[in-house]
Amino acid sequence: MFITFEGIDGSGKSTQLELLAKDLQQKGRKVLLTREPGGTPFAEGLRQILLEASVMPAAELLLFGAARAQHIAEVIQPALADGAIVLCDRFTDSSLAYQGGGLGLPADFIDRMNDFACQEVSPDLTLLFDVDPLAGLKRQQLNQQKPDAIESRGLEFLERVRQAYLTIAHAHPERMVIINAGRDMYAVQCDVTLALQQRGLL
Ligand code: TYD
Repeated sequence: MFITFEGIDGSGKSTQLELLAKDLQQKGRKVLLTREPGGTPFAEGLRQILLEASVMPAAELLLFGAARAQHIAEVIQPALADGAIVLCDRFTDSSLAYQGGGLGLPADFIDRMNDFACQEVSPDLTLLFDVDPLAGLKRQQLNQQKPDAIESRGLEFLERVRQAYLTIAHAHPERMVIINAGRDMYAVQCDVTLALQQRGLL
């Protein structure tokens, strides 16, 4: 079972991922937590480059793709084969939303890159934590998180990313659940639990 967590920064997706992991572990399920870009030494190295330096949009996209290809082969595929529930903080939809919606790179190419990197692996469920970019930014400031190079592209960029996410979610209702993340942590957690229960996963 492969579940991905998506949304703009400050949406609280990482907190919800940890809460869900604890819940599943308490129920005796084998869980693997991972993230993109990252999850392997090579991909964590790319993460550092991507979040610190500014590169050309095409180079940025391809680096996210390279990190994903390694992550899939080295971590996600083996864990799924081992029967684990894999919870991944960001995945293919991040490239579509940020590099596609945000930077304007072509969605059909991003789809092909994702397919190429993923070798038939795709999420069974994607939770989209939807929040207004300004509210997300305020939440990040409250938590004293410093925005990375990509998040620092401004509110208009984040609004395009948000709209792209919503478009993807509406195109894939069987896979994606939109969760209103502009509420308190417990209300959001209830919706996450409900989404999993509805699919017989909790
Ligand atoms: P994230 O791990 O959520 O950052 P943080 O540790 O600050 O919470 O995500 C890192 C950044 O990478 C985020 O700004 C979104 C961006 N990103 C893309 O632009 N495209 C992608 O394909 C992925 C996976 C992430």
